[in-house]
Parts: sequence; C-alpha cells; structure tokens
Amino acid sequence: MKKLLFLFDTDPMTSVFDVVVGYDGGADDVHGYANVEPDNVGGLVDGTIFTRGGKEKQNTAIFVGGSNMEKGEALFEAVQKKFFGPFRVSCMLDSNGSNTTAAAGVALLAKGHKLKGKKAVVLAGTGPVGMRAAAFLAEEGAEVTLTSRTKERADAAAKAIETRFGAKVRGVAAFDDESRAAAIQGANIIFAAGAIGVQLLPEAAWKDNLNVELVADVNAQPPLGLEGIEATDKGKSYDGKVAFGALGIGGLKLKLHRGCIKQLFESSDGVLDAEEIYALAREMA
Ligand SMILES: NC(=O)c1ccc[n+]([C@@H]2O[C@H](COP(=O)([O-])OP(=O)(O)OC[C@H]3O[C@@H](n4cnc5c(N)ncnc54)[C@H](OP(=O)(O)O)[C@@H]3O)[C@@H](O)[C@H]2O)c1
Repeated sequence: MKKLLFLFDTDPMTSVFDVVVGYDGGADDVHGYANVEPDNVGGLVDGTIFTRGGKEKQNTAIFVGGSNMEKGEALFEAVQKKFFGPFRVSCMLDSNGSNTTAAAGVALLAKGHKLKGKKAVVLAGTGPVGMRAAAFLAEEGAEVTLTSRTKERADAAAKAIETRFGAKVRGVAAFDDESRAAAIQGANIIFAAGAIGVQLLPEAAWKDNLNVELVADVNAQPPLGLEGIEATDKGKSYDGKVAFGALGIGGLKLKLHRGCIKQLFESSDGVLDAEEIYALAREMA
C-alpha cells in the first residue's frame, strides 16, 4: 500500500521544500493543498481518515505548513478536532520549518552547553522559526528575550509563546544595528532568526561583547544574520564564542524533518509538534 502524505498549507502556494522533504522522508506520494484553513479543512481530513482501515491507516499522514505560525497552529488544532476513536492519522506541524529548524538550532546549542540560567536573545524572533527557538530556549531554562522592529509585534509573539508553552519570554523593540546591539548587551546566547538575506548585527556587536558565549544564525542567504560567522559553521570557535551557521544547523534540520516524516508512517496516532520534534532533535544532535 502506498504511503501518502497530504500537505495542508496555509499559504496561497504549497511549499516546494515540504514536498521534496516529504518524498525524501519516505512518502510514496505527496499531495499539496494551498490556502487551507480551519473552515475548509474538514473534507480533506475526512478523506484521510475514512479511506483506509486498521493498520492500513498508518500509510496516510498529514503535514501542516505555511509561513504563519498562528494560522498553522489553528489549522493543526482543527485537523485534530476532526479525529475521533480510531478515525485518525498521524500528523505534524512545521510552519516554515519552524519546529524542525528551531529544534535543530537549539539542540545543537544545548549539546555540550548548559543553557539553564543563561540569558538568550532571539533576534527578529517574531517569525515561525524565532518563536519556536524562543520557546525551546526557555524550555532549556534560559531567560529569553525576543526582538522585533516593533514593540507590538515583539509583545504579540511573546504572548503567543506564553499561551502555547506557558513560558515567559520578554519582547523588546530593536529596529536597527544599534538597538539590536543594545538588546544583546547582557546576553550569553544569540539566536538570529531574521528573514532571509537580512543582516541583523555587525561583527563587532557580538564579537566584542564579553558576555556572549554561543551564537546561532538560521539565515543561509548572504548577507547572513550575524556578520562575521560562516553559514557552514557548526560549533566553530571565534575567540571562545561558539558559532552555528544556517548550513551547520541545516544538516540536522533536514535529517530531523525526514526522520519526522518517517515516524508519521509508523503509526496512525502520532502527533508531531514542538515538544515531540524537539525531543527527537535532542536525540539526533
Ligand atoms: N537553516 C535552515 O535549515 C532553515 C530552515 C527554514 C528557515 N530558515 C531561515 O530561518 C529564518 C527565519 O525563518 P522565518 O520563516 O521565521 O522568518 P520570517 O518570518 O521571514 O522573518 C522573521 C522576522 O524577520 C524580521 N524581519 C523581516 N524583514 C526584516 C528586515 N528588513 N530587517 C530586520 N528584521 C526583519 C521580521 O520581524 P519584525 O517584522 O517583527 O521585525 C520577521 O518576523 C529565515 O532566514 C529562513 O530563511 C532556515
């Protein structure tokens, strides 16, 4: 029986990245649906749960993606609300690679370094990846601040993280190099989670900061988020400051994403969201 993966994307176009990794993770066929929302997902879910019986059901799985974390979370919840009794299939949430990328990045930071009690700043932490990274850092016991170009967006992201994870994260406005350098003043850990191709800090801002011990940057497209690191860095030391670049993190991210897809087809009741994906990342790191 063919392993079928259904991608429900909250964006107007289905993510090509998620289609490719769906196949690489072991699906025999991947079907993408765009503009999916809680109000129109019901019929799609019915198609996954009423078509195969018993153990056959584990050959059907659902992946929720898209660029908006809030919409992804609402859709993921709506998908699971349609399940009842044995009428369910395994499902995973990974809006914009949020869970897999953030989990890979934080798991690499946490490997061999105690994060508990450290001060962490997630720069441009209002996107899907930054919001999950902030939650995972808080989960590791770090004291987390996230920045945004506006105070409103910073506070909204912090509130959403608290609602979802019960973790207290501080939101601060930092809209240019100077204010972002001020935001990382007392930080031991910097996680740069800005949009692709956007530099967030000049080299001196983090290299001359004596408090900084660990840095990570998930933006792979030059200019990188943190000037002075290399995208391929994977634990490289810059005068004692340990750095992870986007490609250094990306290897584990892809392995983790594929591993999650594989796991979806191992049962019909798997739910892979932040907690489960981070636990797997810690095992794999
Ligand atoms: N390495 C990997 O394997 C991997 C996988 C997936 C994604 N990524 C990368 O991870 C990063 C984060 O992804 P995402 O989807 O969470 O990002 P995103 O939503 O596109 O952007 C994150 C935040 O960047 C800020 N931003 C946008 N333009 C900016 C500008 N010109 N100056 C300063 N800040 C700006 C925005 O915050 P405010 O508007 O609140 O300021 C936005 O919420 C991206 O670079 C993406 O390419 C890497």
